[in-house]
Amino acid sequence: MTKLIQTAIQMRDKARAPYSNYKVGAALETVNGKIIGGCNIENSSFSLTNCAERTALFTAISEGYSDFKALAVSTDNGGSPCGACRQVIWELCGDIPVYICDADGLVSETTSAALLPKPFDELKLK
Ligand code: THU
Repeated sequence: MTKLIQTAIQMRDKARAPYSNYKVGAALETVNGKIIGGCNIENSSFSLTNCAERTALFTAISEGYSDFKALAVSTDNGGSPCGACRQVIWELCGDIPVYICDADGLVSETTSAALLPKPFDELKLK
């Protein structure tokens, strides 16, 4: 199992998910091989919950990383990134491989472009 996938699985242990009990871990790999993790962080005001993918991405950006080569997401049952995360992944990563995992390892491999066909992005603002 790759370190990226291992980190995504391990990040589930850090999730704060008292309302859904659906723990999600994510891990991003930079072009230089640095791996940055994230987990979902729920809030009693449900819409303020932050998904694992966006936690990883925002942590990475805030630490000065901006070039990413792969993303792994781990849930109990191999769930895929939500629509909001797909938009943010596309905006911040462009087209990269996305590894969807369950608690034991890789379930499927896709790409951020496949997850978000016909994206809205900065090109539409020109
Ligand atoms: N969740 C994520 O962390 N990532 C996704 O892409 C889908 C959903 C979280 C949000 C919430 O804490 C829990 O999973 C149930 O929706």
